Amino acid sequence: MKLVFATNNLHKLKEIREILQPEFEILSLADIGCETDIPETGNTLEENALIKAQFVEKHYGLDCFADDTGLEVEALGGEPGVYSARYAGGNGHDSEANMHKLLHKLADKDNRRARFRTVIALIAPTLLTHIANKDSQRGIENNSHLLFEGIVDGRIAREKSGNEGFGYDPVFIPEGFEKSFAELGMEVKNRISHRARAVQKLAEWLKKTS
Ligand code: IMP
Repeated sequence: MKLVFATNNLHKLKEIREILQPEFEILSLADIGCETDIPETGNTLEENALIKAQFVEKHYGLDCFADDTGLEVEALGGEPGVYSARYAGGNGHDSEANMHKLLHKLADKDNRRARFRTVIALIAPTLLTHIANKDSQRGIENNSHLLFEGIVDGRIAREKSGNEGFGYDPVFIPEGFEKSFAELGMEVKNRISHRARAVQKLAEWLKKTS
C-alpha cells in the first residue's frame, strides 16, 4: 500500500522507510512531483501537521501523513514550540541562530528542563475505507484524521556540543544521558527520539489495522 510522507527531509524519509517497509511504500513530496513549500500557518504542531497532510490529500488525492516538531522549554513557557524552525527570525531553519538565541535567553536560568514533541497527522481515506470494508464493526469514518504524538524529555545544555543530527541537537540532552543528541549520534537518537516515538505509534496503528 502506498502512503505519502509530506516531506523532502531525507533523514526523516530514511527513518520512516526502515520502520514501514515492506508493508508500505513511502513516497516523498518529490516522488509525487509536489514542489510547493507548504505554508505552516497553524498555531499548534497539530494544526501544522494537519495542514501539510490535508494539502497533499486535497491536491493529489493520495493518502498521506505529515509531521511537525517543536522544542518546548519549561522556563520559557513552552517556547520556541511551534516556532522552533524560525525562532531567530528570517525564513527559518537557521539552526545556529536559533540555538544562539535559545542559549542567550536561558543564560541566567537554572531550570533547563525541555522536551521535543512531534505530532504526526494521518489523512488516509483510501486506507480507512479499506479497513472499514474489512471490518464493518469498527465504524471508522471516511476522511477523518488521526494524530500520533511522540515526546522525549531532557534539558538544554549550557553550550553546544557534537556534530551529528540537525536543528537543536547540539544543545539538547535527553533524560538518562549526559551527552547531547548531536554527540550521541543517529543510532541512539533514532531509538529514543520524539519523532521515532511518534513514528512507532503510527507504524503500530498501520500494521495493526491494515
Ligand atoms: P520540523 O517539524 O521538521 O519543521 O521542525 C521544526 C524545527 O524544529 C526544525 O527546523 C528544527 O530546528 C527543529 N527540530 C525538529 N526536529 C528536530 C530534531 O530531531 N532535533 C533537533 N531539532 C529538531
